[in-house]
Amino acid sequence: MLRTMGLVFVSLLFLTSMASAQPLEELKRQLDETREQIKKQQEIIESQKTKIEALEKAVAERIPPAVAERESLLKESIERGKKIYAGKGCIECHGEEGQGGKGPVLKGVTLKYGEEFLALSVTNSAISHGPKPLMPAFTELQADEVRDVVNFLATFVPGRENQERLERGKRLWNKLGCLQCHGLKGEGGVTGPAVIGITKKYKYDWIRLCITRPEVHHGKKTEMPAFTEVPFLDVEAVIDYMNTF
Ligand code: HEC
Ligand code: HEC
Repeated sequence: MLRTMGLVFVSLLFLTSMASAQPLEELKRQLDETREQIKKQQEIIESQKTKIEALEKAVAERIPPAVAERESLLKESIERGKKIYAGKGCIECHGEEGQGGKGPVLKGVTLKYGEEFLALSVTNSAISHGPKPLMPAFTELQADEVRDVVNFLATFVPGRENQERLERGKRLWNKLGCLQCHGLKGEGGVTGPAVIGITKKYKYDWIRLCITRPEVHHGKKTEMPAFTEVPFLDVEAVIDYMNTF
């Protein structure tokens, strides 16, 4: 027993003398290494900031962490979208709050259309806006940037019904002959089915296709004519009018 204790003591003495004999360079190297490690840890913390903030929010507001994280990511996405909306000049045509100008009002647009159609509206207006789009196609935007912009558009609060557009929609309903087949108030007729409540059932993009390319939805032999030449905003106005049925 005494012998083993003696051995331990001797080896401890040996190790201490080794440590004190460690050259200054070695200590400096260790310090640099530690600093480097701290820097890496700080970078990790920085990259996890959103997650940490979300967790803090979850604790403070007693909501599930997954929900808090989603909210926090959405907030960041909206911020990026806002910058793109200003940077790409959407603001010049659609207004700071989507109130419209050279382009149509965008308030409530994300309630009317599905995500896919909205993405196409931004990147390939020739497909979504009909044969002669006035809006430039922003083909250079990446998928995540488009999502950011659409998330930003969703922050526009829908305004009151646009009375002028409704009036135009009503005139077009008569002028284009929808009235003859679908009735004065969408109640249906001999040839066309009732379309009452259709905007509650379907989003605008689906209804738009019904009107401009009915063969897609109703098969080739439909009696519903294809209104391929009707400008984008006129179709929009007609659907707004159908929204009152
Ligand atoms: C030069 C003017 C102009 C610019 C810039 C512009 N738009 Fe448009 N936008 C229009 C017009 C005009 C329409 C109507 C369709 C058409 O005629 O092309 C439209 C339609 C839309 C629609 C569909 C609206 C609806 O009610 O169905 C969305 C969404 C949209 N624009 C988003 C954007 C976004 C996002 C940007 C920027 C990345 C942008 N626009 C830039 C003029 C513009
Ligand atoms: C010649 C008659 C005719 C005219 C004109 C007409 N439609 Fe139709 N429409 C139909 C028929 C028939 C259908 C049913 C299509 C089918 O299922 O084959 C239909 C279907 C639709 C649908 C889909 C309804 C659903 O529940 O699936 C919409 C929306 C619609 N029409 C809107 C319009 C609008 C808007 C106009 C005017 C711009 C118009 N239609 C003009 C005959 C007509």
